[in-house]
Amino acid sequence: MSRRLPCTAALRPHFAPAVIAWQRTHGRHDLPWQRSREPYHVWLSEIMLQQTQVSTVLAYYERFLQRFPDVRALARAGSDEVMAAWSGLGYYSRARNLHRCAQVVVDEHGGQFPRTAQALAELPGIGRSTAAAIAAFCFGERAAILDGNVKRVLTRVLGFDEDLAQARHERALWEEATSLLPEQDMTAYTQGLMDLGATVCTARSPRCSHCPVQAWCAARAEGRPEAYPVHTRKLRRSRREHWWLWLEHEGRVWLQPRPAHGVWAGLHSLPEYDSEAALQADWPGPLIPWPSISHALTHFDWLLHPRQCVLHGPEPRPPGPGQWVAYEALADWGLPAPLRKLLASRGPV
Ligand code: ADE
Repeated sequence: MSRRLPCTAALRPHFAPAVIAWQRTHGRHDLPWQRSREPYHVWLSEIMLQQTQVSTVLAYYERFLQRFPDVRALARAGSDEVMAAWSGLGYYSRARNLHRCAQVVVDEHGGQFPRTAQALAELPGIGRSTAAAIAAFCFGERAAILDGNVKRVLTRVLGFDEDLAQARHERALWEEATSLLPEQDMTAYTQGLMDLGATVCTARSPRCSHCPVQAWCAARAEGRPEAYPVHTRKLRRSRREHWWLWLEHEGRVWLQPRPAHGVWAGLHSLPEYDSEAALQADWPGPLIPWPSISHALTHFDWLLHPRQCVLHGPEPRPPGPGQWVAYEALADWGLPAPLRKLLASRGPV
């Protein structure tokens, strides 16, 4: 059973006004996507921000818009071009869904994003919370958001101690989020919740003395804000190890398309092997070992061992599908961030 503290009832009338007032004075106002209520801009920023910090997104957002200024430009682009523009932002299924979503908006909605959270949530890559954020920012709809940051804010303030690993408890929190919505000022409220979660109500060492709802916060009253949210299903991380064959010929590198599913699908990379012996069976020549790369992904830590071979003379035939790509042209290719870094270490990429 949930132990809601008495202060929860007192919280309700104050919560949204306090968040809105705080957002106006202490929230973020100068982010590039905040200058626009254009659904294409807002949608793009929300997808980029899903698993990536604002500081990283800033470097990508404007560049992406220059390259694909509207949803039609994005829809007709080639997938390699989209992956190249996304390259380095990570979580590449977002880019694949982004491209598909643009095509659905053009093909099925005449190039206009739907105007309700419910209809937006039908589109590829737009979950319930992102749909609500777009609908609130662009159309002022009273729709609740509930991303990871907002779950933390609301569970703390409400003292919501049920296990969010269970769908029924997550549903109950959605209902709470909906019941706290203001009648108006949805933009400031929605942005305020996001900003509060990102800058004050942080996972570790929250800055409660700066919080506009500290007086009504159940977790603060209990003296244990970091106990929220409760979520029992913890991610179990595994480890993987692979060997990369880095073939170089006349200022070019041999790149292979990644498999259509799994890590880095849609990008290009070096031929990859489960062991050094498997690599040498495919490519018996002498190899230069480069320092191993540790790369952390959501579900596992990856150890990658690059093995380089610099070839001279007539064009060699490397194993498997792929193509030779000039180092100077790599900026136009979708490469995983650690590979781009590795290739940059031998020259400009
Ligand atoms: N995270 C998700 N959406 C955001 C937004 N609109 N502003 C800042 N951070 C966010």
